[in-house]
Amino acid sequence: MSQSPTFTLLEAANWQDYELLDSGDGLKLERFGKYIFARPESQAMWSRALPSSEWNNVHAVFQPTPEESGGHWLEKKKLPDKWEMKYPLPHLNELTFSVMTTPGRHLGVFPEVASHWDFMAGLVQKETRPVRVLNLFGYTGLASLAAAAAGAQVTHVDASKKSVSWARENQTLSGLGDKPIRWIVEDAIKYMQREEKRGMKYDGIILDPPKFGRGPKGEVWEVYKSLPNLFEICRACLSDEPLFVIATLYAVRASAIHVAQALDEMMKNFTGNMDSGELVTRETSANRLLSQAVYARWSAK
Ligand SMILES: C[S@@+](CC[C@H](N)C(=O)[O-])C[C@H]1O[C@@H](n2cnc3c(N)ncnc32)[C@H](O)[C@@H]1O
Repeated sequence: MSQSPTFTLLEAANWQDYELLDSGDGLKLERFGKYIFARPESQAMWSRALPSSEWNNVHAVFQPTPEESGGHWLEKKKLPDKWEMKYPLPHLNELTFSVMTTPGRHLGVFPEVASHWDFMAGLVQKETRPVRVLNLFGYTGLASLAAAAAGAQVTHVDASKKSVSWARENQTLSGLGDKPIRWIVEDAIKYMQREEKRGMKYDGIILDPPKFGRGPKGEVWEVYKSLPNLFEICRACLSDEPLFVIATLYAVRASAIHVAQALDEMMKNFTGNMDSGELVTRETSANRLLSQAVYARWSAK
């Protein structure tokens, strides 16, 4: 990297339907729409700011099993099977999507990545040419919908059939049913190997991989081993005038500097800006920040 990478704490500041109410003692207290949840947050190594009465006023608490990934939701108050939330994309119609408690402790949205949606939708909107965006590990589709709302032709890839059906439902809920989105249930690397062979090119790429994952046929994704390979294939699938590449890593012991350096290598033949840092959420109780993920993003000058 020619210059030291910039390091930013990115906050998704436009949410109305989501709020980090408090954190502490290894937990976080959050509002998704009008429902309140307590989830483990091992990095919250301080004391809670809100009184127990607030923490006891939850709709559900996630009870983890000793193994890191497992656990279940303990319902404390009546919760619907699913409900809707909205996200106001700047200068565009708001996204509407459904959320629900899932066994993997998530609810169908990672609120902190919304700052990437704003960034990318802003870049797409400014283009007069057709823009092709690829969203790998797309989960419930919110980044894909933000890109489509801004006018991009989108390819969304995820290994989980259930997540892709959920994402398609979110497309309809958001009133984006007529937008060109290709929904693909496939292993990210396998799909991209095929795209490379077909000579498919993209102007914008979003990568939001988990630490460990499996493709539909049991293909193993392991972030440190698999990401360099995926970056290399993605580089081959970039158009001559790429607009952005955004990589976000969750739950990994990684510095944003390392993601930025790997992305810098991928983008070495292009002139642009590299930004990296952490996706953070600010509590409303005591104004402390929770770091949720590290990211690096490249954009054309
Ligand atoms: C961390 S979530 C992505 C978060 C989401 N992009 C967001 O911003 O809300 C990871 C996703 O990767 C998918 N996944 C895991 N392994 C995969 C693989 N080998 N190929 C494609 N998708 C995979 C999972 O099904 C899951 O939806």
